[in-house]
Amino acid sequence: MFESSGVKQKGKQASHSQVASDKSEMELPLRPTLFDFHGVSMTKYFTDNWDDIQNFKARPDDILIATYPKAGTTWVSYILDLLYFGQMCPERQTSIPIQERVPFLEISIPYGVKGKDLADRLPTTPRLIKTHLPVQLVPRSFWEQNSRIVYVARNAKDNAVSFFHFDRMNNMEPEPVVFGSWYDHVNGWWEKKQTHSKIHYMFYEDLIEDCGRELDQLCSFLGLSPSAEEKERILTGAKFDNMKHNKMANYSTVQIMDHSVSPFMRKGKVGDWKNHFTVAQNEEFDEDHKKKMKNSTLKFRTEM
Ligand code: PPS
Repeated sequence: MFESSGVKQKGKQASHSQVASDKSEMELPLRPTLFDFHGVSMTKYFTDNWDDIQNFKARPDDILIATYPKAGTTWVSYILDLLYFGQMCPERQTSIPIQERVPFLEISIPYGVKGKDLADRLPTTPRLIKTHLPVQLVPRSFWEQNSRIVYVARNAKDNAVSFFHFDRMNNMEPEPVVFGSWYDHVNGWWEKKQTHSKIHYMFYEDLIEDCGRELDQLCSFLGLSPSAEEKERILTGAKFDNMKHNKMANYSTVQIMDHSVSPFMRKGKVGDWKNHFTVAQNEEFDEDHKKKMKNSTLKFRTEM
């Protein structure tokens, strides 16, 4: 399905911002294969450093941003970074790529600094850390330290479309998708949230509907009370078009991603699935969705 993506495997410069500068000329490995890892489909790029990841020492003031891939991770990461550091260190927005401000805990790719090491070295308080791990695989210390966790979920149809395009443009992605079932992920975190007060569960569709309201709820979870001016600044900075054109937010510094195939900041909409699903596919998807969500109290909006 992804073979005609146009992503070059060989001879392509791979200078991920986390990649050491003397490694600018190298051959990218082939797309990794998926394998079953404790019941979750994974690739070696997220499991190679497993013992280290599991032994990660979280701190009580860490904030973990947890998502199924393509659910709005970068958007919420950016909002959190602006919220905590936008006023004190405005230069961060124009000098440090988001993936370095908010390290991806489990990533471990050739020539790159491991996400866990980047997180260990973060000089900020709080440390903002990203993960795509399903709830049962999150390092124990986050629970022991009672760190705050912000989970973002997105409706399955748009999430699938976004993931499809991401897999076409990102050479480190397998065929088809990694991090297991969307159903297991969103439901696993939702169930945990019912008994764990330090999880704030957000929806991409709510952010699209009213980002200001969502920011207020996020602030109340975090115990922050920014001024109206400050909130306005955050909402403006985190607008889709502003992030799309900001090199420090749009992943254009990560050259394992081929943005000419599909930009990371692609559409940023609810309902783009309608441009991809046939009527028959949609019916099949709905039927399967209904079955898999029959025991869940989670509700998603696929159009607005
Ligand atoms: S990743 O790779 O898992 O970290 O990707 P993630 O950031 O979770 O998801 C990328 C999708 O989020 C959209 N996005 C936004 N939408 C609206 N507003 C803002 N500010 C915003 N920032 C990122 C991005 O465009 C991807 O969705 P699609 O549907 O592909 O456009």
